[in-house]
Amino acid sequence: MNNEYTNNQLINEINALRKEKNAVILAHYYQPGEIQDIADFVGDSLQLAQQAAATDADVIVFCGVHFMAESAAILSPDKVVVLPDPQAGCPMADMVEPNRLREEKAKHPGIKVVCYVNSSAEVKAESDICCTSSNAEKVVDSLGNDDILFIPDGNLGRYIAAKTKRAIQFWPGFCPTHHRLAQTDILNKRKEFPKAKVLVHPECREEVWQEADYVGSTAGIIQYAVNSPDQEFIIGTECGILHELSKRCPRKKFHMASEYMICPNMKKVNLEKVRYSLRNLEPIVSVSDEIRKKSISALEKMLAVK
Ligand code: 13P
Ligand code: SF4
Repeated sequence: MNNEYTNNQLINEINALRKEKNAVILAHYYQPGEIQDIADFVGDSLQLAQQAAATDADVIVFCGVHFMAESAAILSPDKVVVLPDPQAGCPMADMVEPNRLREEKAKHPGIKVVCYVNSSAEVKAESDICCTSSNAEKVVDSLGNDDILFIPDGNLGRYIAAKTKRAIQFWPGFCPTHHRLAQTDILNKRKEFPKAKVLVHPECREEVWQEADYVGSTAGIIQYAVNSPDQEFIIGTECGILHELSKRCPRKKFHMASEYMICPNMKKVNLEKVRYSLRNLEPIVSVSDEIRKKSISALEKMLAVK
C-alpha cells in the first residue's frame, strides 16, 4: 500500500515535470515495467533512435543505456538529453577501443565498417554506417560489394553474414546477457514446453539462433508473437520484453529460455531517478562538436536505409 502510494506520488510529479520541461520520456523494452509504463514511447534500439531524431520536445529523458542517449545527443544536438543513471552502460559497446579500430582499418584499406549502434560516439565516428538488429540485413545489403568489418557484436555479425551470404569480418564483441544463453537451455525448454515456438535475439550465440523458429530484434520478437497463431513461446532475449508481450498478448504463454537473461544496466533506472533527471535536467549526456560531426553521418545513413 505504501509503495503503491509512493509510486503514484512519483508518477504524478513526473507527469507535472515532463509537462513543465516539455520533455519526452523514451524507454527501451528491457527497462523495468514501471518505467515502460510511464514512457511516452517504448521501443527497440532502432525505434528509439528514430523517435530521438524526430521529437520536438526540448528534453529527452532516455531510459536505456549510455550509447542510446549518446545517439540521441548526436541526432538532436539542440535538445537536452538526460540518462537517469549515469552508470548505465553497455559492456558490449565498451568492447571496441577506438585506437584498435583505427589499427584494423589501416590493415584493410577501403573496408567498410558497419557499426552496431551499441557502440560509443568515438567508434561511430570511425565507422561508415550504423545498424541495429532490426535493420542490419538491409544496411549490409545497401553496401554493394565492398568488404565489410562488422563491429562489435560477433554473434549478430555471424547471423547477418548467414542471412546475406556475404563474407564479413567480425569483431570479438558480445552482449554478456544474450551470450549467456546456451544451446542446451533451448533444447531443455523445448522438452519442457514441446508446443512452444522459440523466438531469439540475434545477439545470442550461433548455435542458439540456429535452434530458433524465429530470430529478430526485440520489436521483431514482439511483432512475431502478436501475429502468430501459436499460443506458447520460449523467449531468448532480455526478460524486460515480457512486460510488453504480456500486455499485447495477455492470453498467450511466454517462458524465458533462461532465468539469467537480465541486463543489469537496463535495470538501473527507477522512478526516483527519472524524477531527479526531470527536476534537475541531469545527468546530461553530450558529445563534443568534433565527435558529433564525425559520427552523425553513420547514424543518418542508417536512418535513411529503408
Ligand atoms: P534491440 O533493441 O535492437 O533489439 O537491441 C537489443 C539490445 O541489446 C539493446 O541493448
Ligand atoms: Fe548491452 Fe546486452 Fe545490455 Fe543490450 S542487453 S545494453 S547489448 S549488455
